[in-house]
Amino acid sequence: MAARASIRQIVRQARCNSYCIPLRRGLQTAAAPASRIPTFAFAFDIDGVLVRSSDALPRAHKALSYLQSQHIPWILLTNGGGSHESARVAELSSKLNVPIDTSMFVQSHTPFADMDHLKDKTVMVVGGEADKCRAVAEAYGFKTVVTPGDILVAHPDIWPFSQQLLPYYKTFTRPLPAPIDPASPSTSLRIDAVFVYNDPRDWGLDSQVIKDVLLSHRGILGTLSRKNGNAALDNRGYQQDGQPPLYFSNPDLLWAAKYHLPRLGQGGFREAFEGIWTAITGGEAHGVKLQKTVLGKPHQPTYEFAEKRLISHRRNLLQCHGGTLANLQRVYMVGDNPASDIAGGNNYKSPHGIDWASILVQTGVYVEGTVPAHQPRNTVGDVWDAVTWAAAQEKWLT
Ligand code: G3P
Ligand code: MG
Repeated sequence: MAARASIRQIVRQARCNSYCIPLRRGLQTAAAPASRIPTFAFAFDIDGVLVRSSDALPRAHKALSYLQSQHIPWILLTNGGGSHESARVAELSSKLNVPIDTSMFVQSHTPFADMDHLKDKTVMVVGGEADKCRAVAEAYGFKTVVTPGDILVAHPDIWPFSQQLLPYYKTFTRPLPAPIDPASPSTSLRIDAVFVYNDPRDWGLDSQVIKDVLLSHRGILGTLSRKNGNAALDNRGYQQDGQPPLYFSNPDLLWAAKYHLPRLGQGGFREAFEGIWTAITGGEAHGVKLQKTVLGKPHQPTYEFAEKRLISHRRNLLQCHGGTLANLQRVYMVGDNPASDIAGGNNYKSPHGIDWASILVQTGVYVEGTVPAHQPRNTVGDVWDAVTWAAAQEKWLT
């Protein structure tokens, strides 16, 4: 028994040394006394809180490096995406000048990486710059990834209005894994799932191709399901014929980019697509709903995913202090978007009974003096104000 305990202690110490010292060397300012284990932590939104497009916001570095010096755990929780987590944390680490690693980072499509049941299938990945999102999906383990651009280059007639973009698409698209040949459905290209990974760049092409897949027979492009419009069937026969599931990674209608006013996001594309779907199917007035799964903040699964990541990151960060680690009591969700960050923080039901307290900053989507659609626990100027207010709440300030 004693021998096994000592092995456990050795393993813990080894992991501790491997984990803490690099971090400590990176973060060391005024290290917190070992006795003070924070039972609170932070989840920071990115766009409108830490950065505006490519620029770090003024006090972002100060806020994050202060927390690291105090060994107060935090993660980044963004509805953004479009590149692999490892690439994004490298970019953010240099932009914010704080060490960040993927164990403390969740972006809109990160949960797609857990969808093992679809990794041997043919999936369509929509959105993002060029075919960066295909590379992310492949890095997650998806073996056959098709993009709307691949389909357009193989069959330009599928969308007549992006012909001028063909030279652009030809720089990164690939041949299709199977031909689109409705005359031979068994050998024709079949899509088994549609993932919108990031903000679409070509709303016209992407809407056309997604519509074609959802109206098809069993996801076989170029076919049309005979069940569409059959009032005797559920959902009036739409998406009742083995069509693929449709996933959106981010519901944001608006987000804070470089421009001084909020810009349309992936949610804008989805709303536009739902308008097309309603026009084609008759919509809810005729008993038809677009069957889809939308992830990202404010949705519960994304917060559960993030909380799990935060708890394990906290354990790694604080295990060095030895003894039993007190449970995490509170997470401060710092965001600029009432509809995603604040609604998500307010409505999240933690399976661990952790209290999520939302803090709204005025450096992004939310405009000072207006009434937010979702009331935060507090509204402050920027991320540093959020950190100091929360630390004061926790009586942590040294
Ligand atoms: O596309 C990104 C945008 O929707 C918002 O990102 O970091 O504010 O959640 P973030
Ligand atoms: Mg934001």
